[in-house]
Amino acid sequence: MRFRWRPRTSREPVEPVEQPDRTEPVEQPEPVQTEPDRTEPDQTEPDQTEPDQTEPVPVEIEPDRTEPDQTEPDQTEPVPVEIEPDRTEPVEVEPAARLRAALHEELDDTPIGRQAAAAVRSRAAQEVFPRPSRRRIITVANQKGGVGKTTSTVNLAVALALHGRTVLVVDLDPQGNASTALGVEHQSGVPGVYDVLIDSVPIADVVQQAPQVPGLRCVPASIDLAGAEIELVSVVARESRLQRAVSAYCDGPGADVDYVLVDCPPSLGLLTVNAMVATQEVLIPIQCEYYALEGLGQLLRSVDMVKAHLNPALEVSTILLTMYDARTRLADQVVDEVRTHFGEVVLTTTIPRSVRVSEAPGYGQSVVTYDPVSRGAAAYVDAARELAERGAAL
Ligand SMILES: Nc1ncnc2c1ncn2[C@@H]1O[C@H](COP(=O)(O)OP(=O)(O)O)[C@@H](O)[C@H]1O
Ligand SMILES: [Mg+2]
Repeated sequence: MRFRWRPRTSREPVEPVEQPDRTEPVEQPEPVQTEPDRTEPDQTEPDQTEPDQTEPVPVEIEPDRTEPDQTEPDQTEPVPVEIEPDRTEPVEVEPAARLRAALHEELDDTPIGRQAAAAVRSRAAQEVFPRPSRRRIITVANQKGGVGKTTSTVNLAVALALHGRTVLVVDLDPQGNASTALGVEHQSGVPGVYDVLIDSVPIADVVQQAPQVPGLRCVPASIDLAGAEIELVSVVARESRLQRAVSAYCDGPGADVDYVLVDCPPSLGLLTVNAMVATQEVLIPIQCEYYALEGLGQLLRSVDMVKAHLNPALEVSTILLTMYDARTRLADQVVDEVRTHFGEVVLTTTIPRSVRVSEAPGYGQSVVTYDPVSRGAAAYVDAARELAERGAAL
């Protein structure tokens, strides 16, 4: 075999065809084996040689064709040349950072890595976050869509609730994504925040217990809320409807709420204004991507206007950097810029971009419950701890 094999390799770069034959010891029936080899590729030629037919010599093509025969199930792409540049691409950009990120990802997915993380998390799960000296009502706002408002609202709320705090989430987005992620019913017709805002229904009548998280309740939003922006215009005290409802609920019997988190829609309309009037704090999630800071000035001006005219207590208390991707320089640039501009308001914890985080809502869960040992879950628990510890003295 080796005699036959070497001359072939000299002509042709790759010869995995004979690898299965390597098991056979020193037998050297050279002519016998070469014949079937030639016939085999001849049969496969019409299927796979087409892309490689540029080469004039059929002998050289044969081994190339046999390769994909063995690898076909793994690599559906007929032309191997196309695969090579794909492999080189990731290495060209930020090799060290890429390697670091890849190692993190892999550690996250290896049995040992996950066991270690699980051990750490199970110890941390006993931890109770400090109770705020007074109830904290926090608006999670950013008029940009897709920056992580809902994901942050849901995961911070779940993390706080799992660590001893009682939390009320108000879903103020007609898309109802927070309701979905918390696993509460919110199809059209289910009483929710629309009824609270427009028909003055008490929150106690529409609030739902989150199925998997004791201590966490949710005022759901259905698509019915889509019309509320317009309907609110003609309602009395249109900017403070939510504030009145939240106060009545939290001061009512048996509410015992430590945190209220309001998940805003991606706009600065009356719904978001209602949230800002109802709360003392604004938490702004900022995605670590290009254009992340665009529109932030407009958001801050809106906060200032509400503060000046409707709610003097309002402050931007927290900025949370989301979807951080260690493989890009851009993410670090955004982090640096945001920290330079906003200083201590920015949480030390950044939320990594993680597939687990985006998968969780599909199962009606937060990532903190869906995959507690994942990096995304750990980051949100860390962010919730920071939020709680910073606010303990407020
Ligand atoms: N850390 C993250 N890693 C990966 N995907 C994320 C992360 N945070 C959010 N996402 C995904 O990004 C999309 C937008 O997030 P979302 O929280 O709905 O933003 P917003 O409420 O601001 O519109 C969603 O599909 C969500 O699953
Ligand atoms: Mg949202």
